[in-house]
Amino acid sequence: MSETTQRMNQLPLRDSLRGEEPYGAPQIHARHLLNVNENTHPLSDRVTQSILDRVEKAVSGLNRYPDRDAVELRTALAAYLGHGIGVDNVWAANGSNEILQQILQAFGGPSRSMLSFQPTYSMYPLLARGTDTEYISVPRNTDFTISGEYVAAQIREHTPTITVICSPNNPTGTAVTLETIRRAYEATEETGGILVIDEAYAEFAQDRDQSALALLDGRARLIVSRTMSKAFALAGARLGYLAAAPEVVAALQLVRLPYHLSAVTQAVAIAALENADELLGAVDDIRTQRDRIERELRDMGYTVYESDANFVLFGGVSDPQRIWQDLLDASVLIRNVGLEGTLRVTAGTAEETTAFLDAMRTISKTTPPASPLAPTESTP
Ligand SMILES: Cc1ncc(COP(=O)(O)O)c(C=O)c1O
Repeated sequence: MSETTQRMNQLPLRDSLRGEEPYGAPQIHARHLLNVNENTHPLSDRVTQSILDRVEKAVSGLNRYPDRDAVELRTALAAYLGHGIGVDNVWAANGSNEILQQILQAFGGPSRSMLSFQPTYSMYPLLARGTDTEYISVPRNTDFTISGEYVAAQIREHTPTITVICSPNNPTGTAVTLETIRRAYEATEETGGILVIDEAYAEFAQDRDQSALALLDGRARLIVSRTMSKAFALAGARLGYLAAAPEVVAALQLVRLPYHLSAVTQAVAIAALENADELLGAVDDIRTQRDRIERELRDMGYTVYESDANFVLFGGVSDPQRIWQDLLDASVLIRNVGLEGTLRVTAGTAEETTAFLDAMRTISKTTPPASPLAPTESTP
């Protein structure tokens, strides 16, 4: 234990935080950074200039607080989402992590619970902990799918206040169907909870019509969380948002800090939405690279989990930490998400994908993929 940690423990820290580490992937330098599912395509000069023009105007007004309700930005986000969604259905915050945190602040808390399907995005339990919300984790099938019947049964059994389904799911890439969401919603309505579909990676899905946005109308307990960090190539700007019924947006306004979204953030996001076509232009290429990673890793003998996101989880990795290090030695940084026998790689540009696949081919000569596991009974 470091000296700082020892001193921290003498502070009146909340019991639930004692012994914990801050969350985050290791920030390591490498030529090819394929570890945190960013869109690795850089912004064009034209889009950069367009953002700078908006930011310049915002900077000249920085002596004033920003628009507290971010109306112009929310209107632009609503137009981007379509599905008849209006400004009153949209809320925005500093990344979808803050969106999820606000959901927990409004609907979670002591004697309340949040349920999700493991393995999934590792921030969920941490956000629950930060708001003293009980976290209930139930397993996925061995291929990481979940059926509507199963999801609904888990909601009825555990009666969580908040259920989160990540689709496409991080770190497995698995998407759920609209039918599964419908079934989950029926159970949520019966048990009086809130259903959150985390669609951080929705733009990369094989079938983009499966977005839960299509189900919002008439479902006041459904929240669809989105982000500009992934498809929009705007991870550094920190802009997440959600679509839901106006009463959900009103509830989140009870917990948001006043002026939580800076004028600069709002300007950057509005400019990005004005250039949505160009920014989203890389999505098709990323999907092509993702499919290429799946195909070529499979040809090398790895087990590949079909992905609807901009990353691929692959199994059959005999020693994930060692292969992670071998890749880093080849200047390719990917992520060991701690799932036995697997690693996760972000689909980047064609050049980055080639660098990753070439390194994997070299590595698999000395450390061949583990032979595939015999098919097992699905749990549950
Ligand atoms: C499933 C999922 N949800 C939410 C987030 C948070 O993204 P951000 O806060 O950048 O919007 C991430 C980030 O990787 C994610 O994978």
